[in-house]
Amino acid sequence: MLDLIIKGGTVATAADTFRADVGVRDGTIVALGLDLGAAAEVIDASNKLVLPGGIDSHVHIAQPSGEGIVMADDFESATRSAAFGGNTAVMPFVLQERGTPLRTTLAAYHAKADGQSYVDVSFHLIVSEPNAQTLGQDLPALIEDGYTSFKVFMTYEGLALNDREMLEVMATARETGALVMVHAENNDAIRFLADRLERAGKTAPFFHGPSRPIPVEREATHRAISLAELVDVPVLIVHVSNREAMEEISRARRRGLKVYGETCPQYLVLTEKDMDGLNMEGAKYVCSPPPRDAAHQQACWEGLQQGVFDVFSSDHCPFRYDDPAGKLNPKGRTSFRWVPNGIPGVETRLPILFSEGVGKRRITLQQFVALSATNHARMYGLTTKGSIAIGMDADIAIWDPEREVTIRQSGLHHGSDYTPYEGISVKGWPVTTIVRGRPVVRDGELVGAKAHGRHVARARSAYATPRGG
Ligand code: URP
Ligand code: ZN
Ligand code: ZN
Ligand code: ZN
Repeated sequence: MLDLIIKGGTVATAADTFRADVGVRDGTIVALGLDLGAAAEVIDASNKLVLPGGIDSHVHIAQPSGEGIVMADDFESATRSAAFGGNTAVMPFVLQERGTPLRTTLAAYHAKADGQSYVDVSFHLIVSEPNAQTLGQDLPALIEDGYTSFKVFMTYEGLALNDREMLEVMATARETGALVMVHAENNDAIRFLADRLERAGKTAPFFHGPSRPIPVEREATHRAISLAELVDVPVLIVHVSNREAMEEISRARRRGLKVYGETCPQYLVLTEKDMDGLNMEGAKYVCSPPPRDAAHQQACWEGLQQGVFDVFSSDHCPFRYDDPAGKLNPKGRTSFRWVPNGIPGVETRLPILFSEGVGKRRITLQQFVALSATNHARMYGLTTKGSIAIGMDADIAIWDPEREVTIRQSGLHHGSDYTPYEGISVKGWPVTTIVRGRPVVRDGELVGAKAHGRHVARARSAYATPRGG
């Protein structure tokens, strides 16, 4: 007998849409078809879409964020919010602490996540101190243990790597088969522009945008690609905000380089004008790269349509707004420079993409599945996730494609006290989220246990194989 049958729904994968019931045993999909027989539990999915559970491969949870600043989510609240947003796995970052062995820091994140997560968790690393110990020993050992991707930053004080360091890290990725994710913004250019804006008294949150204009991102994107080309290693440019950075990716691909792209909801539905709120309200939208304008939103849609972007992630990085440990920095530091960068979005990522994308016929349902789940699993070596097929984890989101929701903070489940997407109306919402065969959210109610989510070690990704083999 089966443990669970999801009955009467329309199943969609990155390749097909078809009518089938889904049979689950021991957390795995074991049957697809009609008349699957008996099961301990049956979930009725008539008039619903049965989709692979979302994988949000770019989230920040309980990550140290500077003196006095505290992220608004712990693993419990972030993974609860993720589940309500139709996600069955999230991929947060472990930020390397200077002077501390990477494995020690990783253990601290596991202590925060293990037993506290409603959905599955798989960590990326952030390399901030690329010394001999890190690159020669710690990082290769962790990659071997299934932490097969890491992010490097070209901006942020204390995090930004110089070009030599980028090359050393990329060479290590090539040797070890890890996937390199790059935050591409030119740190010196940002410092120059921010200093000049502050000297002119332009310190409101709005000036976060002008301190990080498009050439800052375009140049760093070009440089990251060039550095990766020098050592022949694939590279993923994360949170791309505009056409010019996209064109760098496309040009590199035309030349045969393995360069991948990620974009996020903020670049589809927010603009720089959102940061121009009264008083400090604009701080609610401060993230990096900053949202641009309508023309660049359109460009990002084209990037999703044409495959310039392989993955669509939230870059969930939640701070409270009305809080000195959040967006309103204490100590009289009112300049945009001190506003913590990042916005919440793990729960709203997929409804926004579904409604604005599939609903408005900008992308197909197959593209939606690829961008929300399948490509994330392939990109990062989650071999049992990201599709509905026999033998895969029963990670499933059941969507009501007709459900109309106006996004409101009061309806969300994250730890932040606002959503930057307040007031946006969407059609289509995930109503039931099933992680390895167990409902975590059912008909809009939390029914799962926070100890159900577990850490997933990953294989090396084919995306990370160098051109030279
Ligand atoms: O502003 C952002 N994106 N904050 C999160 C950290 C990062 O760079 O991804
Ligand atoms: Zn663990
Ligand atoms: Zn980043
Ligand atoms: Zn991020």
